[in-house]
Amino acid sequence: MPEIHFTADHHFFHDGIIRMCGRPFSSTDEMNETMIERRNAVVHGNDVVYHLGDFAMKGTAEGCAAVFKRIKGRKHLIVGNHDKARVTSLPWASAPQARMLVRVPGEKVPLVLDHYAMRTWPSAHHGAVHLYGHSHGNLPGMDRRGDGTEFRWTREELVKAA
Ligand SMILES: [Fe+2]
Repeated sequence: MPEIHFTADHHFFHDGIIRMCGRPFSSTDEMNETMIERRNAVVHGNDVVYHLGDFAMKGTAEGCAAVFKRIKGRKHLIVGNHDKARVTSLPWASAPQARMLVRVPGEKVPLVLDHYAMRTWPSAHHGAVHLYGHSHGNLPGMDRRGDGTEFRWTREELVKAA
């Protein structure tokens, strides 16, 4: 049974993110390789992955395409502020959008995915959960919303963390 994953702010190729976020790498090559390896250990070929923005910053179109090809899953993009044409033009499973409403099987209300955290969102009053990126884990989750940086939130975990 394929799983659904949510993640954000990989920032492939971004040297500055190593210092800004205290990532334990000495180079972007080491960072990229480690993230690809760890991600592929979690995501399987038929799994669905929603990227909540900032897939890559810097890097060439060829470099972004090479990374994209190596990471597993049916990948969707919610466009982040650093996602330029070299990222948005990759062969995503659906057209990249600023916001996506995702229906998870068995759920009555959609998940609302956006790169930016919102104060309210579609179907919020009916229990919809909102996932965001951009804040790199520095904006605590609350009231059925949470940072999508973490892999594999279940709805139960997200509601509990809020
Ligand atoms: Fe980011």
